[in-house]
Amino acid sequence: MLLLAPLLLVLLGGVHGLPLPPPLAPSLASITPPHSWSHLPRSSPPPPGFFEGWYYRVTADVATPADPWPSASHTFALIVSCQTLKNGTTVAAIQAAHAVANRVGCEIGTPSYAFAEVSSSPSSPSSPPLRFESSPTSLALSSVLSPTSRFSITPTSLSATLPGNVSFSLSLSPSAGWGAPGAQRSTAGWLSRLPLADPQWQVLAADGRCEGRVTFPPLPPVEFKGARLYEEKNWGRRFPRRWFWMQCNSFPAEAGLTLTVGGGEREIPRLLGGTENLGLIGIHLNSTFYEFAPWSSQLSWEVEWGSWKLWAKNDEGEAVIISARCGQDQGQALQVPMEGGLEWACRDAYCGRVEVSLWDRAGEIVLDKAESTTCGVEIGGGGWAPGESWAAESRMNWLLKFVVKWPGKIGRWAARVRRRATRVLTT
Ligand SMILES: *[C@@H]1O[C@H](CO)[C@@H](O)[C@H](O)[C@H]1NC(C)=O
Ligand SMILES: *[C@@H]1O[C@H](CO)[C@@H](O)[C@H](O)[C@H]1NC(C)=O
Ligand SMILES: *[C@@H]1O[C@H](CO)[C@@H](O)[C@H](O)[C@H]1NC(C)=O
Repeated sequence: MLLLAPLLLVLLGGVHGLPLPPPLAPSLASITPPHSWSHLPRSSPPPPGFFEGWYYRVTADVATPADPWPSASHTFALIVSCQTLKNGTTVAAIQAAHAVANRVGCEIGTPSYAFAEVSSSPSSPSSPPLRFESSPTSLALSSVLSPTSRFSITPTSLSATLPGNVSFSLSLSPSAGWGAPGAQRSTAGWLSRLPLADPQWQVLAADGRCEGRVTFPPLPPVEFKGARLYEEKNWGRRFPRRWFWMQCNSFPAEAGLTLTVGGGEREIPRLLGGTENLGLIGIHLNSTFYEFAPWSSQLSWEVEWGSWKLWAKNDEGEAVIISARCGQDQGQALQVPMEGGLEWACRDAYCGRVEVSLWDRAGEIVLDKAESTTCGVEIGGGGWAPGESWAAESRMNWLLKFVVKWPGKIGRWAARVRRRATRVLTT
């Protein structure tokens, strides 16, 4: 019953607080994954103890005037979050980061950072810190954070103005969501419709292109076309106790390759064990999707700041080996929504040297050490002792694993029933 009750809720049209998605424009629909809409109420702040956050990253080859590295690659990241603390204070924040990597995967100069936030307490309610606009496609939200800071995001545009004369004005063209076109998946499985685990995670655009203009002093304004775009989001009560993440869609010799990796110690109901270590790897290669999920693969990792190594094999027999490196002193701290509000709990670098090898189910090699020097690499949360790596294996709670596999099983039964029915009706 414990598991059937939430299932019934989902079948009967959604869980409280999870609005159903609005209709999608046909061009974007086939690559728009579940959860592309917002989980926050449209006209009021998030419920106490709940956050939702969006992460956008742009990787652009921009030769700046007076740049000693004409082939430098610029990464701009934009993070929007909205959270209501347990005491009822709602905080909406926007962070922007900029880092430059050279051709061999070294950060050039010090990364830049900009931040703006607004908070409203329950005793002095102002307008909701995020404003959702009706949109024919998925997310459209905007906010005025102060007289000089604002942002607006739609499925095809992003604009932001932050303190320090930082501004973004971009048009976005996602080209891959999560899964093959027309077969979009929840990154963490269908159970992410339920508030069973924290946090939830959805890759919104594993790949895409964008163009526009970014001003990030001290760099002069840069304009670009054909830059790589990545989008994801998290929601729930808090980030994991400890996690790592890697993402790269800028492989010079493999234009159709995008790699996404996440792993962490996440919270699940106490009845099911309280926490579990999970890892996940998703690879889009042209229009093929290779998924190494906690419910479908054996996956191990060894991670510390400066070195990320993973191995996985899934139930189909596909296999992958990934390694990434960056300098000990590279990267920058970012703020993430924790239970007590935003905390400097995470470190990102955008100059990871990554290598990916992939084998298909026949054992044939598909990618033989595909390389990039502009991989986004991250660690977060606690328990990262310097010089000590976190070696673990992905182990999903057996009950959650059993249930998360239902849709696949139900889909196969339904197909079998349909085939039988067709046979009966046509003979
Ligand atoms: C709520 O908690 C936050 C973080 O601990 C604090 O900054 C804020 O002042 C509190 N607000 C109220 C209304 O107590
Ligand atoms: C922002 O721009 C204004 C006007 O151009 C200038 O006076 C100011 O120094 C700039 N501030 C920063 C932090 O670059
Ligand atoms: C992906 O597509 C590109 C362009 O069509 C092609 O050059 C490349 O070989 C493909 N990659 C793989 C691994 O199939």
